[in-house]
Amino acid sequence: MTDEPRHELAHLGPHALRTPDPEGTLRYFTGLLGMDVVAEEGRATYLRAHGDYEAWSLKVIAAERAEPAWVSWRTWSPGALLRRTEWLETHGHRGRWIPADRGIGPWYEFTDPDGHVFRLYYGTQRHTAPPESRPVVPTNHQAYAGRGANVRRLDHVNLLARDVRACREFWETAFGLRTYEIVRRPDGHQEAAAWMSSSIQGHELIYTGENTAAQGRLHHLAYVVDSREEVLRAAEIVADARIPIEAGPSRHTAIQGFYLYTREPGGHRIEIAHGGYLVFAPDSEPHIWNAEEWKAKPGWGAPLPPEFHLYGTPPDGTAAGGDGER
Ligand SMILES: [Fe+2]
Repeated sequence: MTDEPRHELAHLGPHALRTPDPEGTLRYFTGLLGMDVVAEEGRATYLRAHGDYEAWSLKVIAAERAEPAWVSWRTWSPGALLRRTEWLETHGHRGRWIPADRGIGPWYEFTDPDGHVFRLYYGTQRHTAPPESRPVVPTNHQAYAGRGANVRRLDHVNLLARDVRACREFWETAFGLRTYEIVRRPDGHQEAAAWMSSSIQGHELIYTGENTAAQGRLHHLAYVVDSREEVLRAAEIVADARIPIEAGPSRHTAIQGFYLYTREPGGHRIEIAHGGYLVFAPDSEPHIWNAEEWKAKPGWGAPLPPEFHLYGTPPDGTAAGGDGER
């Protein structure tokens, strides 16, 4: 199985973000996005969206500055977890085991070629809704929240990388992620962006080019809503809360997701998203845009502001990653 890593990763798992404004960040995710706090422990708060099947999908850690702590993937099986950690250890990417956290884990923590901290896990805890939020339809994980932007579940993450191609090849080789679209740099070799997934969902992990000297930075984290109309509704909600809207509502050409990009009070760029195509063909090849094609890309959608290609977290340098206080 080690020469065919496809189907070893099941889906993108929980994330952890550090924030210098924990009150503001939590107000954003609960009051505006409609997520629930499920636990608080020291400097950490654990949150979930009403459609997340696991106990939590976001850990917010009070800290000195805004930076990503880690991103995770759930594997398909305990065996897949061991096979992938074995691959990492025998190919120069040795990491370390981290104990389970609030029912999820243990985790194997390692870094991608740009220094972003990732975790793999299989063991998890499904959400058990308390009586007051128990759903009437038993296949739902909790009652329909219907609050704020009413985000349903964690959707995808976009990381900045100095060498997008190296990161893409790492995930393809080590984990069998599929790449659905690539944007090449003018030299025809280096890449400006790559959209990757463990499933038929058009994007779970995106790398876009880091245009500063930093490394290990987050571009954005996305939660999904049920319709384009709800993205427009979310824009009204966040605008009235005086949360800066950086871009959208509009539609991307790559993967064709409908988007709204905001900055939560801690500084992280968060997307409220809907849609994006699905890839059913098992033999699909990535669509490759050359630099000229990408510049003149077809379809519709508002131009993204210049800062969209520069800003990431931490805003002022390299991310250290990991769960510890700093
Ligand atoms: Fe996105």
